Amino acid sequence: MSILIKNGRIVTATDDYIADLFIEGESIVAIGQDLNFPADNIIDASGKLVMPGGIDPHVHLDMPFMGTYSSDNYETGTRAALYGGTTTVIDFILQKQGNSLRSALDEWSGRASGNAVGDYSFHMAVTDFNENTKSEIKNMIEEEGITSFKTFMAYKGALMIDDRQMIGLMEEVKKHGGLINVHATNGDMIDYLVQKNREEGKLSPLYHYLSQPEITEAEASERFVDMASYTGCPGYIVHLTCEGALNAVRNATKRNQKVFVETCIQYLILDASLYEQNFEGAKWVMSPPLREKKDQQTLWAGINQGLVQVVATDHCPFMWEQKLMGKDDFSKIPNGHPAVENRMELLFSEGVVKNKITLNKFVEVSSTNAAKIFGMFPKKGTIAIGSDADIVIMDPKEMHQLSAATHHMNVDYSGYEGWNITGKVKTVLLRGKVAIDNNQCHVEKGYGQFIKRNKVTQHI
Ligand code: URP
Ligand code: ZN
Ligand code: ZN
Repeated sequence: MSILIKNGRIVTATDDYIADLFIEGESIVAIGQDLNFPADNIIDASGKLVMPGGIDPHVHLDMPFMGTYSSDNYETGTRAALYGGTTTVIDFILQKQGNSLRSALDEWSGRASGNAVGDYSFHMAVTDFNENTKSEIKNMIEEEGITSFKTFMAYKGALMIDDRQMIGLMEEVKKHGGLINVHATNGDMIDYLVQKNREEGKLSPLYHYLSQPEITEAEASERFVDMASYTGCPGYIVHLTCEGALNAVRNATKRNQKVFVETCIQYLILDASLYEQNFEGAKWVMSPPLREKKDQQTLWAGINQGLVQVVATDHCPFMWEQKLMGKDDFSKIPNGHPAVENRMELLFSEGVVKNKITLNKFVEVSSTNAAKIFGMFPKKGTIAIGSDADIVIMDPKEMHQLSAATHHMNVDYSGYEGWNITGKVKTVLLRGKVAIDNNQCHVEKGYGQFIKRNKVTQHI
């Protein structure tokens, strides 16, 4: 099977030019002007942007969490991702406390394998670091291609590890060439504030937000950065939301330390005023919560300063019925929000079209940097000879509206209902196959492959 994409504006993290692309099998084999190879399929991309497939390194599909499961499984979640131009996602395996990493990997592989439509990989969340877990790290990195290990400094009693475990894990992960991802908020402070608000009868979604003030994230981010500095382990802060936390990373650069930072699309464009709408605010109950306008400014600036390298989603959808589990108590609302399908178009519309970031930066933070940080580059994350033909063709001018009525995520509301967007994903290729075209999906469940990842490079 071969595909010739003609006359597109090819944009990578560094380049921007008009050319043709020739794809054979799963890879890009030629890039040039006026290519006339015979092809099974010719796509005219005149007037369109041709970019690397998006990579969302933070999603939760079919995840057991807070007494329920996230509502997108590997089929619906990766298909919705493809509709929005994201060809690869990285999901989180959660170790059960008392059990092995291996048994968690088996459980997650059982749910994903044969079901994914788009490509996927796994981070391993270590929730119980002990001598047994320690002995499994090398194998995960070297044999399974799982090179990043997630830690939670919050969700006390369920997922949280203490600093002693964190340091031990960092030393082991560093030894074998991996990286630590962290949910950096102070679990003890949050636990205290949640209990206090509940005891005072403050039970609406607003109190989810008020139980996780900025200081809880700033403090934990600083502590994480210090532990990463002490151990020399590469670190990556997931879903960073605010000025105080980014300043912890900024300060660390003064001692020549580099810690990678991910923010999520929602923290760039939504703010905490959404929690003021009684229970409706449950749509945006996530951890950390949405913040203030000044934090949005910090995050956009952080992207342009190179302090924030990745814009992900933390896609963790729940049906409204599931959100209602917390109608009388904010602490029982399943945490998470749907966005995997919307990330690329929202970032393009709110970022590129509104002149907050350049087109090259858009590609960098939505695809290339994640591929580099998580050991998938140049197979994924760029348009180059030999790379996987994961391509997004976007009409930069087409206007459309986001709605739960038209999205493909398995969730019955949208956090962006009625938003007017400029820029529409028209065609998506995944490993040389047309996956999405004309609002139709052309690949079946099972086409999505598990991507084994390489060891981490600290320099991007
Ligand atoms: O609210 C969130 N973020 N839910 C998913 C779990 C996590 O903390 O990433
Ligand atoms: Zn988290
Ligand atoms: Zn998450």
